[in-house]
Amino acid sequence: MQADLSEQQTIDKSHYPKHIAIIMDGNGRWAQKRHLPRVMGHPAGVKAVKRVVKFCAEEDIQVLTLFAFSSENWRRPQEEVSKLMGLFMATMQKEVNRLDKNNIRLRFIGERHEFSEKLQQKMADSEQQTENNTGLTLVIAANYGGHRDLTLAMQTIAQQVKEGKVAPEEIDEAMIANTLSIPDLPDPDLFIRTGGEKRISNFLLWQLAYAEFHFTQKLWPDFNAATMQEAIDDFLTRERRFGRTSAQVQNKPE
Ligand code: IPE
Ligand code: IPE
Ligand code: MG
Repeated sequence: MQADLSEQQTIDKSHYPKHIAIIMDGNGRWAQKRHLPRVMGHPAGVKAVKRVVKFCAEEDIQVLTLFAFSSENWRRPQEEVSKLMGLFMATMQKEVNRLDKNNIRLRFIGERHEFSEKLQQKMADSEQQTENNTGLTLVIAANYGGHRDLTLAMQTIAQQVKEGKVAPEEIDEAMIANTLSIPDLPDPDLFIRTGGEKRISNFLLWQLAYAEFHFTQKLWPDFNAATMQEAIDDFLTRERRFGRTSAQVQNKPE
């Protein structure tokens, strides 16, 4: 026991990802495997969210971004969409105080004006309640789409050009990044998708440019601290070169 404990304490976490972004996929299939209606997978998915948030808070991860509802998910059957909306509301009502107590800051990205007034109010209130917290920043992507994020940024910049505040040649990468959602947070270092699909599904297209990708067959409701640790261990094996050579990154002669 004692040996295990001291081993734990010496784990070097300085190379851990600062920002982890997750596509939480596979809720429907998880339920169907149990001969349940697919919507039953979503409450099971909320339990996995709680486990993963706890893990990230305990491991001092700075930012966790979770894809909860994409701008394309409105295309699902009406019954599933309304169950999901009810679940968002109920989960926030139950969990925000606990997040706050744990020093977690909650933020939302995506087009919230398409949600009900009541849900929008709850989102704004919970952001305000937790805004001074200094632990984990938990970003929930709700009605989020990467194309839409980029489109809105282009509209904002175009308006500034029209008003003569910005010259077209002044538009640079930093300006675009600063006009997108979450400009103040570091880009994701680690992207995880559960459920076996190997695609981005219109998640953070710009911000994922240099993220390391980890795909797992595990269905989201089965995700837990051990599978999170597996993803981090996989991340730690990667050499992040950002265009340089391996020798350059390792400070060795070519
Ligand atoms: C992800 O699980 C949750 C949401 C998109 C809201 P799915 O509902 O997509 O589960 P599968 O992919 O159908 O199994
Ligand atoms: C992506 O999952 C969106 C969320 C997890 C919220 P989907 O299940 O909607 O993605 P596709 O449709 O299979 O690409
Ligand atoms: Mg899916």
